Amino acid sequence: MRLIIEADSDKASDWVAKYIKTRIKSFKPGPDPDNPGKTRYFVLGLPTGSTPLGCYKRLIEFHKKGELSFRFVKTFNMDEYVGLPRDHPESYHTYMWTNFFRHIDINPENVHMLDGMAKDKDAECEAYEKKIKDAGGVDLFLGGIGPDGHIAFNEPGSSLVSRTRVKTLAKDTIIANARFFDNKIKDVPTEALTVGVGTVMDAKEVVVMITGAHKAYALHKAIEDGVSHMWTVSAFQQHRRATFVCDEDATLELRVKTVKYFKGLMELHNKLLEEPKVD
Ligand code: PGA
Repeated sequence: MRLIIEADSDKASDWVAKYIKTRIKSFKPGPDPDNPGKTRYFVLGLPTGSTPLGCYKRLIEFHKKGELSFRFVKTFNMDEYVGLPRDHPESYHTYMWTNFFRHIDINPENVHMLDGMAKDKDAECEAYEKKIKDAGGVDLFLGGIGPDGHIAFNEPGSSLVSRTRVKTLAKDTIIANARFFDNKIKDVPTEALTVGVGTVMDAKEVVVMITGAHKAYALHKAIEDGVSHMWTVSAFQQHRRATFVCDEDATLELRVKTVKYFKGLMELHNKLLEEPKVD
């Protein structure tokens, strides 16, 4: 596990965006030289929420500057509310198109999002897992967490081997999300379709962004305490390639020793941002 500590959330967003750019470029997505007629796609798992907004902005900038293309990238979003039509202003579809997809060169066919209006929700979830599998699995899953340590909508107590499914939202999450629904609790969806912890664990790599003092205890639980289904993000302690990226504020509940240790590794970790040399 790696922990990247940046001064503030802007710098943390920069780090994550540069890292994603490097990973996509190193993968060299596009026509497969070893299999004529085949295309290699980089598969990216994506979250919504306020945390990744800065990262999406940077990725859009890279694209506009001609430094990064999403032509051969497929995306899978983590979750979607049940009962909100796609074009509802608070649906995650709307969020993703407004804040990211509309500004880049991704082929809409390569964008995958759960349909919260599906008649048969279980079948929708099962089909989503199959689509991820058929795409060759997720290469990099980016996530954010809630102050209670939830990843996607895997609230406290969720199985750490869970798959994509319908989930009832915790009361705290409904209250937290009311700000997006004119503070009307009754308008906040009470269910969501979400990838499971196991679905994210299957990704080849996981990057979790954690910023702000209100998430400091969650970061402590995520990396310093044991693995627990009450803090579902802690599952990534057992992932082979997990990177937590935080700001100084989010380190407030960590041991000084932990912070010093990972800060001492920053020079090494920043080498991960070096882009592959062009042949
Ligand atoms: P936030 O939400 O990025 O808006 O803090 C994250 C989450 O609840 O998963």
